[in-house]
Amino acid sequence: MHLLSDLLGRPVADIDTPALVIDLDAMERNLAAMAAFAAQHKVKLRPHAKMHKSATLARLQMAHGAVGVCVQKTSEAEALAALGVNNIYISNEVVSPFKLKRVVALANALDALGGQLAIAVDSLHGLQALAQAARGQHTVIRVFIEIDVGHGRCGLAPGAAAVPLAQEIARHAQLQFGGLQAYHGRAQHFRTVAERREGIAQVITHVQTTRDALQAAGHDVPLVTGAGTGTFSLEAASGVFGELQAGSYLFMDRDYASNERDPAQPRFEHALFVKSQVMSVCADHAVVDAGHKSHAIDSGLPAVHGLALDYANGGDEHGILRGAVLPTLGATVWLIPGHCDPTVNLHDYLLGVRGGLQSGKVEQIIRVDARGMLT
Ligand SMILES: Cc1ncc(COP(=O)(O)O)c(C=O)c1O
Repeated sequence: MHLLSDLLGRPVADIDTPALVIDLDAMERNLAAMAAFAAQHKVKLRPHAKMHKSATLARLQMAHGAVGVCVQKTSEAEALAALGVNNIYISNEVVSPFKLKRVVALANALDALGGQLAIAVDSLHGLQALAQAARGQHTVIRVFIEIDVGHGRCGLAPGAAAVPLAQEIARHAQLQFGGLQAYHGRAQHFRTVAERREGIAQVITHVQTTRDALQAAGHDVPLVTGAGTGTFSLEAASGVFGELQAGSYLFMDRDYASNERDPAQPRFEHALFVKSQVMSVCADHAVVDAGHKSHAIDSGLPAVHGLALDYANGGDEHGILRGAVLPTLGATVWLIPGHCDPTVNLHDYLLGVRGGLQSGKVEQIIRVDARGMLT
């Protein structure tokens, strides 16, 4: 098999290892479950495309009701926009004047595609730099003021600190106040439902305090956006959030599967796997050909799909399997990555398989269009 495209229509067995594989049937069930959830709860869905970094999958999500996608990086947005994704929110701060020129060019490009660009800010300085870059343009950029609702990353303190930024946005014809960005990333991974409920209850209080301060100063808050795969049902039920940014639900990694499941959420399935092969076996362990160059280990090591085996780190190119019954030399072992976003970023392509991991066929080769887009 010389060309990747030769794989189309071939059985799963023909996929060389290590390879990043999507179970398309499972992914589509996740896609449909999330779309149905958002429709039922009357909230907009703007999935985070930093997870899959693929224009094909962004368009698929939009075809299933998503209003657009989020990204974290200007270059991620550029890569998706170049492939026709026309509604993008950079849910992150950009302050470099050099990058802000690219942001404005991107806003024009999305406008020409019939869509719109949005971006987050958390400082007057960043906002003024954006306004400066956008001066004289016809395109209107939606701006969300980010507040720190407990994550301890970007964002203003909740409350009145947002008012001067809303006032500044109102001074520029090229900028439009989109509302508040309120994302608590750490809370996504609080293991128990009770901990997540408590974390998001505080988020909601912070949002309400900020919204009240803005309204008292005469600024309507059109939308509150945030949430991830761990907590989105809580934000959706709050009556305060109008848009959900969850991304990982589409693939589901091992880390998210370790959360106690909230019955209010749809049940998502693992759809992202590293196909690996046993390349060496000895008395007490087997070795697969997928190490941490094949999957990210920032959120822990992968789980072994369907087999009672533990995966231990064997370095860049190897994984060590231990268990009562070891797989045989040459056997296929499917790994469930610890964290989907940085795992996808290690690969050029996702191989979409239809009909299951055992006897399915390769139906789609999906390029990771924004792979390595860090700027
Ligand atoms: C700002 C923001 N929103 C949403 C998400 C989506 O989270 P997840 O992929 O865990 O659903 C992330 C992920 O890190 C994020 O940084």
